[in-house]
Amino acid sequence: MRVQVAIIGAGPSGLLLSQLLHLAGIDTVVVERRSAAYVLGRIRAGVLEHGTVDLLRRAQCASRLDDEALIHDGFDIAFLGERLHIDLKDLTGGSSVTVYGQTEVTRDLMQAREALGGTLIYEADDVQPHGFDGERPYVTYRKDGAEQRIDCDYIAGCDGYHGICRASVPKGAINTFERVYPFGWLGLLTERPPVSDELIYCAHERGFALCSMRSQSRSRYYVQCGLDERVEDWSDDRFWDELRHRLPAPAAQALQTGPAIEKSIAPLRSFVAEPMTFGRLFLAGDAAHIVPPTGAKGLNLAASDIHYLSNAFIAHYNDGDAGLLDRYSETALKRVWKAERFSWWMTRLLHTFDADDGFVARLKQAEFDYLKSSRASRTSLAENYVGLPY
Ligand code: APR
Ligand code: PHB
Repeated sequence: MRVQVAIIGAGPSGLLLSQLLHLAGIDTVVVERRSAAYVLGRIRAGVLEHGTVDLLRRAQCASRLDDEALIHDGFDIAFLGERLHIDLKDLTGGSSVTVYGQTEVTRDLMQAREALGGTLIYEADDVQPHGFDGERPYVTYRKDGAEQRIDCDYIAGCDGYHGICRASVPKGAINTFERVYPFGWLGLLTERPPVSDELIYCAHERGFALCSMRSQSRSRYYVQCGLDERVEDWSDDRFWDELRHRLPAPAAQALQTGPAIEKSIAPLRSFVAEPMTFGRLFLAGDAAHIVPPTGAKGLNLAASDIHYLSNAFIAHYNDGDAGLLDRYSETALKRVWKAERFSWWMTRLLHTFDADDGFVARLKQAEFDYLKSSRASRTSLAENYVGLPY
């Protein structure tokens, strides 16, 4: 098989890139090691920036999103019992965020790809990128026991944090920057109406908690937990008790609990690989960077990478201009680092760190007091949360 761009990984990054390139007349194939059902089984965050929504519309896969998604004009921070409303719309001059699960984004992208006859190869074993330091890269994999080869002009590494693409780059050619946080998030999804119309981010002595949602009838909650904790040790009752402890009293009273549809623990990490380009291999999304979920930036950063990368391929193939491809890494990383900073800042402010002493506690209180008293400070938070311009 021969294509212009071979894409490794069928998460949101790979599917979105494939769809946008297809619509511009550039042929791609997506090779994924898991099954479609497995990919759809992963529950991840659910807050979309307007730039992400616009890109999904450009990719012609936003009709269900436009029908079903919830528009949020603000959210609350509850800091050690004090509640502060962040009015995104007012602070940003009209912007809001869209609440729509990443699982649904992935499902819509899969359907859009299939409707256009895109080639998606699931359950491909031993996927490997080759020759990307030269002129003739190719991808090999095994499917149903048979060796396969895809020749291409370029390889897009959209294979997530544990993927093969970044790992195939010679060690000396890549710099990585990392912070691993000393806690995780225990998340629970339940078929109950959300406790509030908007998200509530709670900082509490016992640890962070978040009230989020997927729809008017399905909610998603998180509590900060230790890295050594196991989901099996968290009965639904234990989860609800702990969440109630950490919520402001009115929310704790209003909370509607129910059986968990899904419950899992995720570690928190900040990670960036530089550069994001190695010859004819381009990394995008989680393959190149990870943010802790506190700022809801993971999927949105993947989308902004794909915005830059798809535009660069389109300029190259359709206008003969390779400049955007040459500058892809530099352009994408500028925005990545701003989102890294914001996610790190939100995480730092709202979580309980065992190592924090009285000095840090007072700095955090001062940070929250400054948010309360200064519109400029809230504006900075709001413009990062709704998404910086591309
Ligand atoms: N070969 C083929 N596919 C692979 C390989 C491999 N060696 N390794 C991983 N993959 C696949 C994974 O199975 C997964 O489906 O690559 C895909 C990567 O998808 P994601 O991890 O969802 O990454 P991305 O598409 O960049 O989306 C970023 O996902 O983790 C969240 O917070 C993140 O919301 C953000 C979004
Ligand atoms: C979620 O709904 O899963 C979610 C929302 C906001 C975040 C993180 C996760 O910051």
